[in-house]
Amino acid sequence: MQNQDFSTLAERFGTPLFVYDGDVLLERYNDLRKFIDHPRLQLHYALKANFNPAILQLLKDSGCGIDAVSPGEVEYALHLGFAPEKIIYTANNMTDAEFEKVYKTGVVMNIGELSRLRKAGIAHPGMKVCLRFNPDVTDGDSAKTMTGGELTKFGILLEDIGEVLKIVRTYGLKVVGLHEHTGSGIQKPESFHAAMKALMSIATPENFPDLEFLDFGGGFKVPYKPDEARIDYITLGAGIAERFRNFEKSYGRELVIKFEPGKFMVAECGTLLTRVNTLKRNRKRLIAGTDSGFPQLIRPVLYDAYHQIFNLTNPDGAEAVYDICGNICETGDRFAEQRPMPEIREGDLLGIANAGAYCYSMGGIYNLRAMPGEVVVKNGRIISVRRRESDSELIDQIMRNTQSCDTQL
Ligand code: LLP
Repeated sequence: MQNQDFSTLAERFGTPLFVYDGDVLLERYNDLRKFIDHPRLQLHYALKANFNPAILQLLKDSGCGIDAVSPGEVEYALHLGFAPEKIIYTANNMTDAEFEKVYKTGVVMNIGELSRLRKAGIAHPGMKVCLRFNPDVTDGDSAKTMTGGELTKFGILLEDIGEVLKIVRTYGLKVVGLHEHTGSGIQKPESFHAAMKALMSIATPENFPDLEFLDFGGGFKVPYKPDEARIDYITLGAGIAERFRNFEKSYGRELVIKFEPGKFMVAECGTLLTRVNTLKRNRKRLIAGTDSGFPQLIRPVLYDAYHQIFNLTNPDGAEAVYDICGNICETGDRFAEQRPMPEIREGDLLGIANAGAYCYSMGGIYNLRAMPGEVVVKNGRIISVRRRESDSELIDQIMRNTQSCDTQL
């Protein structure tokens, strides 16, 4: 999309505004299918990355499945028309009620704790399950998003395989899948291979005779910084497919290979449009104050993540260095600190790039500012608009479920 398109959308729908490019979304989905050239590849989009209904519709129409992490996500995916067999439910700290709710839908559950596995066996002997293991590979773009290794709450340890098999055999559980997820934003292609190897080491027909698939989670990274190289996914994908074909030979049967990409699919299709309304100076620092803030795009504050920011209405301005801040009452409310940018003037429109993954979906209404609207564009046409709530709607929402009372504790 061109700068002018963004300006037109900002004027028409107001700012802040998330804009998603459906063509980029589908390109990434198809890229991944091409790179991992295996006839039984199934992609389950990690719904937590972005739950915009139009994005999900485009993916559903392309045959993509869903990786859901809460009963709410399962219900939402079913509501949007994804078939239960296209969904995999990977929860942690499931309650009994959550477990039963999802069990009834027929969606395969991915269990990552011995205690839950035992409870599953007691409640539903013979049920189908997928087991999540900790691959003991540590990689990701932030310590907070690495899910393998010592410092994580996720998955069953590989060395607990004996205990796993005891539970599985006691309750006659049918283990149809094995799963691992190493982290988000995996930096080294070798980590994919190491994690696959780890999971395959226990995926023998003796341990698990009923396997239908292995699921290697998500974690495919995309560049966020201007000088950051793109991983050679053609080579990585070919290596992954080959490793899996060899595994199938040793297992003795054809299996499905699954991945659960989130960031790779949606990060680059999204831009947050925000307008600068206040320029000020704090001694040496130039501060560009925008009409958005960290509750609407929290990654820089939470992970020290870098997002490129473009001055869409003055791209050729003389360079200056800015703190690009939001409108929230906290000093840390910055999208970028000391960032060289083409001159920013009051009224300029900024585009924060890679805002498609884990931005809207991690958003909140801190300071009682409604989340931005969302627009999806495809083939030069606007195909979906989700408008921003008004202040009164926000207040209605707060009041709706609140009652005054005076009852005994
Ligand atoms: N599968 C499982 C079990 C996961 O926990 C996740 C992400 C994914 C797949 C998708 O990973 P992806 O392909 O998107 O890297 N909020 C963080 C990322 C958190 C990821 C949580 N789990 C961020 O903004 O970087």
